[in-house]
Amino acid sequence: MDGPAEPQTRALWDVYENNILEISQNLSGEYFRYKGLPFPVGIYSPESLSIAENADVQDDDIFIVTYPKSGTTWMIEILSLILKDGDTSWVHSVPIWERAPWCEIIMGAFSLPDQPNPRLMSSHLPIQLFTKAFFNSKAKVIYMARNPRDVVVSLYHYSKIAVQLKDPGTPDQFLQNFLKGEVQFGSWFDHIKGWIRMQGKENFLFITYEELQQDLRRSVQRICQFLGRPLGEEALGSVVAHSTFGAMKANAMSNYTLLPPTVLDQRQGAFLRKGVCGDWKNHFTVAQSEAFDRVYREQMRGLPTFPWDAAPEDPSPDPSPSPAQASEPPHP
Ligand code: A3P
Repeated sequence: MDGPAEPQTRALWDVYENNILEISQNLSGEYFRYKGLPFPVGIYSPESLSIAENADVQDDDIFIVTYPKSGTTWMIEILSLILKDGDTSWVHSVPIWERAPWCEIIMGAFSLPDQPNPRLMSSHLPIQLFTKAFFNSKAKVIYMARNPRDVVVSLYHYSKIAVQLKDPGTPDQFLQNFLKGEVQFGSWFDHIKGWIRMQGKENFLFITYEELQQDLRRSVQRICQFLGRPLGEEALGSVVAHSTFGAMKANAMSNYTLLPPTVLDQRQGAFLRKGVCGDWKNHFTVAQSEAFDRVYREQMRGLPTFPWDAAPEDPSPDPSPSPAQASEPPHP
């Protein structure tokens, strides 16, 4: 692995590199259960989850919380740029997992020495397993959600390249497992239903992948306002320009190409895969879409509508079929 060249980040990188190499030796595609939910062996452990649950929180901590594949990486890039007033040197010199370390992984955020202030941290934890001290603090959570149909498509592809994850099996099997919550971190429905209860609290921002796609500039302004960090025009322009899909795909510190294929095998497909809304329409069969809608309606009854519920306003799917689609039947 080639790490960052700059001396000040090189030493920390060496620590991470050793951790990554150690982690890669323990990945098996097996899951263990913690308080009823499945977690991949090797990346997480009962101890690492317990450390995250019971850690201390500082009032200026900023947490990015997502269900997997909802745009975590995108939000980390945006926040990394906001915290540096649009200056790009941090996002161009420090790997993304070091800028916003994961709370719940082995050797996670709470076990790291010498973190900058404010601490920026990421988590996929459902609310009932999240760091308890947060709920009595002024720390902030930005919860980013995404159309679950696009989440399942993204997760299906990611499961083929992420060595810690179970093989997704057939598209139908994977979709059934997703709808039952038999995937890492459990049910998407439970995740969003749990966290949305925080809406209205001063230290909680609910934002969607779809809003960012629709108007990145306005979304960045909304995030800045929530953080109490207004940006000037030039800085705002820089945040927007450097957090586009194209900019992130070209940034080795953000596209995960620094990870070895024994952890993330991007020879089989890119982590930054398509970066669009509505890709599910290119993948779901009619039967899969109807099955999904039935469960969605049942599970989401009584909740407010989300951007992806307004079908006519849904951004169009990518019109050009990928080479894979030409040879494969539709699938999630
Ligand atoms: P796709 O697989 O649909 O392309 P996470 O970071 O939570 O794992 O989410 C990954 C998903 O977010 C991937 O979706 C990835 O391409 C998308 N993504 C990451 N950065 C993005 C950006 N700047 N713009 C749009 N989508 C982005």
